[in-house]
Amino acid sequence: MQTTSEAVAVVNEQRSQESTSADRGRIDIQNLQKVYESRTSQFQALKDINLTIGENEFVTILGPSGCGKSTLLRIVAGLEDLTSGELTLDGEDIIGPGAERGMVFQGYTLFPWLTVRENIEYGLKLKGVPTLARRGISSHWLRIIRLEKFASSYPKQLSGGMKQRVAIARALANRPKVLLMDEPFGALDAQTKVEMQEMLLEVWEKEKTTVLFITHDIDEAIFLSQRIVVMGAHPGRIIREFRVDLPTERTADVRELPAFLQMKRELAQLLKHD
Ligand SMILES: Nc1ncnc2c1ncn2[C@@H]1O[C@H](COP(=O)(O)OP(=O)(O)OP(=O)(O)O)[C@@H](O)[C@H]1O
Ligand SMILES: [Mg+2]
Repeated sequence: MQTTSEAVAVVNEQRSQESTSADRGRIDIQNLQKVYESRTSQFQALKDINLTIGENEFVTILGPSGCGKSTLLRIVAGLEDLTSGELTLDGEDIIGPGAERGMVFQGYTLFPWLTVRENIEYGLKLKGVPTLARRGISSHWLRIIRLEKFASSYPKQLSGGMKQRVAIARALANRPKVLLMDEPFGALDAQTKVEMQEMLLEVWEKEKTTVLFITHDIDEAIFLSQRIVVMGAHPGRIIREFRVDLPTERTADVRELPAFLQMKRELAQLLKHD
């Protein structure tokens, strides 16, 4: 019989083959428009969106409430149709949700009737991954999110930050090419938020996943990203892009660097004037 560590080794081997064999997570958006129509009116939610997110890049979309951030992310997730334009992942049209795109949204979307471990294993079970291999992967993630002791707990027994960690682990256990995150830390207290941001960066470095992250928190956008895309409202559109020139290693003291503070001022100014 296969042991857990053998099962994990097999899965890791499969993963390394997967990640070298093909593109992993390049998103191309060209001339994308989104118009919501009702019987009596039309509303242009997104206008002329052009954006490319490279393999393993961490890009944040920053913008005021109502500018269309969630709409754009939901379209990339395949949960919403685009009105016109092109949208591809590794050259393939996105026409619906898919396992290669993991999602973490605000508010905890865990299944309340499943334990923490079962929540993490959910997508793997759907894919038909055998029990032992599933167990190996969920144990790996329980360690990373430091919730080994809560493997058999139910979501209602966890704090907000703990639930959000499980949601991230659940999305990443499927080894998606792209991780789509819509204000995932918006409801957390300041300290927990910082811990979650650091954990996310650690995971991103290890997993080589492309991340498209949404926030309206300027500090969070700078701390996490390699690139920040700023959107404006009425209609929802991209107004500017910034490359974040900060050390790859993002520790707490990055927030004190002159470059960080300068960028913070610039972004605040930009958002104020839009
Ligand atoms: N299903 C829908 N039908 C009609 N209008 C919609 C629909 N979903 C969103 N909108 C409109 O599209 C615009 C963008 O909404 P969206 O949720 O994408 O904004 P957002 O940038 O994510 O805002 P927030 O920061 O508050 O989450 C809003 O004006 C909203 O009213
Ligand atoms: Mg939103």
